[in-house]
Amino acid sequence: MPETTDIFEVMSTMRAMRRLKPDPVPDELINKILQAAQWAPSGGNTQRWRFLVVKDPEIKKGVQVYYKRLYDETVGPRYVSSAPPPGSDPARYRRQNAAVEYLTDHYHEAPVWIVACLEDGENPGRTAGSSIYPAVQNMLLATRALGLGTTLTTRHTGYGKEVDAIFGLPSGVHSYAILPIGWPMGRFGPLGRGPLKDVVYQDQWGKPYQGL
Ligand SMILES: Cc1cc2nc3c(=O)[nH]c(=O)nc-3n(C[C@H](O)[C@H](O)[C@H](O)COP(=O)(O)O)c2cc1C
Repeated sequence: MPETTDIFEVMSTMRAMRRLKPDPVPDELINKILQAAQWAPSGGNTQRWRFLVVKDPEIKKGVQVYYKRLYDETVGPRYVSSAPPPGSDPARYRRQNAAVEYLTDHYHEAPVWIVACLEDGENPGRTAGSSIYPAVQNMLLATRALGLGTTLTTRHTGYGKEVDAIFGLPSGVHSYAILPIGWPMGRFGPLGRGPLKDVVYQDQWGKPYQGL
């Protein structure tokens, strides 16, 4: 079931697909993903988003160097020392880390990146991201519906200034996410999440929701 337009199946099988083939992805499919992004809501319908479609190997490699540096400096050590998240277990968490490391090493080999940017001014406030992440989520969903693989990545923002300079972003514009897109090597499938009842309350914090 690589392609599906059933929205609940799309959401419930939309794994982070970190192992991607380098084979080209037709522009026609990328354009569908971009259209999905633009259908998203933004505060006041301001639509201050901009999307960079990156195919240039040198630009991707330049960014991958920072992406890898951040893995070595912070992300890798954190995986080794932290407990598995809800719905996971040590073995599954180790596989996740292996996939994260794989994407780190092969980031630039994904044939297409879409970089989600926002004209958010010099000092973006706490809600700035809320006008770009709905578009990012739409792209994740569209990518999955088309049978393509991707992962929402934001690690590069640890070297945000350096990476935004590589992308040639003017001042007042920042990158919020990079989606490396390609045909997946693995399969879509069920997601590891904790029980829903652990995260839903009724009326007040901590009171169990009676609807489940
Ligand atoms: C805000 C945010 C930032 C993320 N950044 C990265 C990233 O830089 N690199 C990466 O490999 N995955 C990144 N992810 C993907 C998460 O690790 C992934 O969604 C999570 O492990 C759940 O994976 P699953 O949907 O396959 O279960 C990010 C996800 C979110 C929501």
